[in-house]
Amino acid sequence: RKKSTMGRGSLIVFEGCDRAGKSTQCVKLVEALENSGTPAKLWRFPDRGTAIGGIISQYLEKKCELEDHAVHLLFSANRWEAVPKMKEHLLQGTTLIVDRYAFSGVAFTAAKQGFGLDWCRQPDIGLPKPDLILYLTLTPEEAAKRGGFGGERYENTPFQEKVAKNFEHLKENNWRVIDAGKDMESLHEEIQEITRAVIKDSKDKDIEKLWI
Ligand code: TMP
Ligand code: MG
Repeated sequence: RKKSTMGRGSLIVFEGCDRAGKSTQCVKLVEALENSGTPAKLWRFPDRGTAIGGIISQYLEKKCELEDHAVHLLFSANRWEAVPKMKEHLLQGTTLIVDRYAFSGVAFTAAKQGFGLDWCRQPDIGLPKPDLILYLTLTPEEAAKRGGFGGERYENTPFQEKVAKNFEHLKENNWRVIDAGKDMESLHEEIQEITRAVIKDSKDKDIEKLWI
């Protein structure tokens, strides 16, 4: 299909700690955009549906062990394999609402012993650059109130605290920090307002490359 005459869609990424409500807000945002006539599609990383994503899923479920560098590169490959389709959607005017992206990739691996932010960023350099990163934050107290972790790898408080520290180092001017402690509906309204402004603003801009 041909390039949209309405301008391109936006690449909107949600990042943040576990239990901040990222996935819930992603779904609500896509629904709201679609209902108001803005083409939008939900996307998520890792995409567990591909061959690479299947290995990642096994690793997260602790059904297999993988060397830490190797699994970092698989997470990155799982994004790169999605790029042609992502670009196609964006150029056709569809806004992509993405649940985690390269920032999770860096923040999680860099929380492991012996990994620096700089090494972790390398494989994701050049990915389509998000127009907006909505960073959902939650105080440890609020997080605790929301109930226990699941049983997947990385789902423990000390690790998540390191991840949160790493996210702080990745913030740039296209990040918006959102207090996820608010009720779901107020949060949704705030997110919609920010997102709609960015969608309008990025229509005629080129898609830039991440970390270049
Ligand atoms: P999920 O819970 O959103 O499906 O994410 C699965 C886990 O994978 C979560 O703990 C974050 C982690 N992760 C990485 O370690 N590297 C990555 O590149 C991504 C996207 C997620
Ligand atoms: Mg999870």
